[in-house]
Amino acid sequence: MPISLDKHLRDSAVDHDLRHLIVKIAVTAKYVHHAMQTGDLGLAGTSNMYGEAQLALDVLANQLFVKELEDSHYATCLASEEMEEEHTIPHEKRGKYAVVFDPLDGSSLVDANLAIGSIFGIYESDDIIGLKGDQQVASLIVVYGPRLTLIYTTKNGVHECILNAVGEFIVSRENISLDKKAKNFAPGNLRAVSSEKKYAALVNYWMNNHYTLRYSGGMVPDINHILLKEQGVFTYPGYEKLPEGKLRLLYECAPMALLVEQAGGRATDGKKRILDIAVERLDQRTPIFIGSEDDVILAEKMMHDEAY
Ligand code: F6P
Repeated sequence: MPISLDKHLRDSAVDHDLRHLIVKIAVTAKYVHHAMQTGDLGLAGTSNMYGEAQLALDVLANQLFVKELEDSHYATCLASEEMEEEHTIPHEKRGKYAVVFDPLDGSSLVDANLAIGSIFGIYESDDIIGLKGDQQVASLIVVYGPRLTLIYTTKNGVHECILNAVGEFIVSRENISLDKKAKNFAPGNLRAVSSEKKYAALVNYWMNNHYTLRYSGGMVPDINHILLKEQGVFTYPGYEKLPEGKLRLLYECAPMALLVEQAGGRATDGKKRILDIAVERLDQRTPIFIGSEDDVILAEKMMHDEAY
């Protein structure tokens, strides 16, 4: 008998409000998916064929998540990759969770019809600055691909759900567990190899040792791939032009790190555990090495040890 996301959360004795919050996010992702399938792929500030103002999909996705999360009465504050400042929930609608999200990560891939995703981190908190990823009570990703899927953790394993024919999220995989050793590699920021010789050596190591390249240009499908294949390594180092790399600690790296660690993998900035880094700014960036444990450790050594 298929189990719904809601039942799965209930059976795991997840807190009532957290359960409803996660289900609310899943339902809102269906609206975003619908907009993606039916809307014109306009750019923000342009108008459609009827002359109506049109929203870019990432702006629309942000508005949908903000509205639905605010109306859920389960959130205290929101922070989104699409907003410069924290959004405090009005007193009469306030719950107990801070929700941070990237409403549509990799949205530039939409016009090429590639998979993209949404990323969420959930904390039991009134505020966001000063938090560490370790304090997340849950994280999840939604993948808008040929199928609509999500992968979530409430720190009790990592589980995948898939949208079924009648629009319910049904559990499709439970207790995803990563092998220590990767066979696939996803090398982000390859432009760094020209100045970072250590990164060039790492990429060469993967190629010379017959790893298979699996890089889509979207962090959500790339990490989703690692989780579902139960092995792989994803990297996005910094380089001279962008020492901290490009990926955001709060909106991208910390939620992904929780999922991957819960699946038995590892996630660091090359030296430090991603989940131990405190958020000092909403838009803080960090390099990231994430995935199968042995390969992340090897990447850390090759990037930082003098011996290599
Ligand atoms: O942060 C947005 C993002 O699209 C990620 O999803 C992805 O991993 C990364 O940027 C890709 O960066 P680049 O364009 O440098 O390969």
